[in-house]
Amino acid sequence: MYLKRLEIANLRNYNNQIVEPNVFFNIFSGSNAQGKTNLLEAIYLSCTGKSFRTQKESEIISWQKNFLCVNSLFETNTRQVEVKIKLQPNKKRIEVNGVLIKGYPLGWPGVVMFKPEHLALVKGAPLERRRFLDMELGSFYPRYGYLLGQYNRVVIQRNNMLKEIKEKKEEVTTLQVWNKQLCRYGAELLFLRMEIFRLLSPLIREIHHDLTSAEEELDVRYFSTLKINMPASVDDIYVQFAKRLQEIAKEEIKRSQTLIGPHRDDFSFYINGKDAKTYGSQGQQRTIVLTLKIFQILQWYKEAGEYPILLLDDVFFELDKNRRMALLKWVEGLVQTFVTTTGEEKISFNNNLTVKNFFIRSGKIANIEER
Ligand SMILES: Nc1ncnc2c1ncn2[C@@H]1O[C@H](COP(=O)(O)OP(=O)(O)OP(=O)(O)O)[C@@H](O)[C@H]1O
Ligand SMILES: [Mg+2]
Repeated sequence: MYLKRLEIANLRNYNNQIVEPNVFFNIFSGSNAQGKTNLLEAIYLSCTGKSFRTQKESEIISWQKNFLCVNSLFETNTRQVEVKIKLQPNKKRIEVNGVLIKGYPLGWPGVVMFKPEHLALVKGAPLERRRFLDMELGSFYPRYGYLLGQYNRVVIQRNNMLKEIKEKKEEVTTLQVWNKQLCRYGAELLFLRMEIFRLLSPLIREIHHDLTSAEEELDVRYFSTLKINMPASVDDIYVQFAKRLQEIAKEEIKRSQTLIGPHRDDFSFYINGKDAKTYGSQGQQRTIVLTLKIFQILQWYKEAGEYPILLLDDVFFELDKNRRMALLKWVEGLVQTFVTTTGEEKISFNNNLTVKNFFIRSGKIANIEER
């Protein structure tokens, strides 16, 4: 899939802007605070109906304006898709080929984004990694979102119940009902996560091997607070989860918190056997995240039969030349790519692939030249 034309009105520091990107590689350069990330936000919005920066969507509307419009024309393997988004404070309207829609069609390849904040995936708090797992990898499994929603709901209600028991407003026995639900959704969720990691491990090892010219071996390990012996079936996990809950019941009541389960799990990356969280260099962290992004691209292709659009905000030219070239080998001619930079970097390709260079200043985009 690629974006053929983008029309923006009243989005952040853009008034009216039309962009006609290249089918493959697009570079947007400009000084700080000129609108580079804002443009990627507009593209992301047209691909997903959401912002990658904020949940409060009215923030995206230009100051002093009361609506924004993003109209985009995509071309997929089989058809042209026109997406029209109109956003007003607390009101959003998305039309696909003239039909009003609630969500994007299933199998829509969408977009893969990499921005500097994603480096927290390696060194940041467990919450960052769980969010990536839940939102970005879990989204390939229709059941994942359902299980996660149910599981999180049970955790909240169970925590309330633990508090009531602590304050002697409820009997300890009432916990049984919540334990059953917690184990039921939790066991299936953990099982699915194990599936994801089974698929992820060998593939990211291969991609990372390639990105580092075979110099580094990447491993990923999942740490379950349930301390389950793997491999385990959903039933095995259920039984062990329930048993552990019995053992820690007193502590959970004391702290009014559900202390074990997928919502407390974490995972870590290892380079040549060493924990990247503790020992990884900046470049190594960046390469791990890049590996995950390439994995996502390949997953999209497997699921949708189409490649997603790739957005690289301030990360492409920070890679060393070898890693940059290795990345290009994965996406060359296949994935429409948008990169931003504050420099004046240029790249060219050996094949007949063209690059389009744009310059952004104060919310205005100029087409520099096409090579
Ligand atoms: N709702 C809004 N209305 C108008 N302007 C906005 C709005 N939200 C943000 N801006 C402005 O957009 C400007 C450009 O932001 P953007 O993040 O795109 O910069 P950038 O080119 O990516 O810079 P950097 O290189 O620092 O990342 C900011 O200076 C900000 O003041
Ligand atoms: Mg920026």
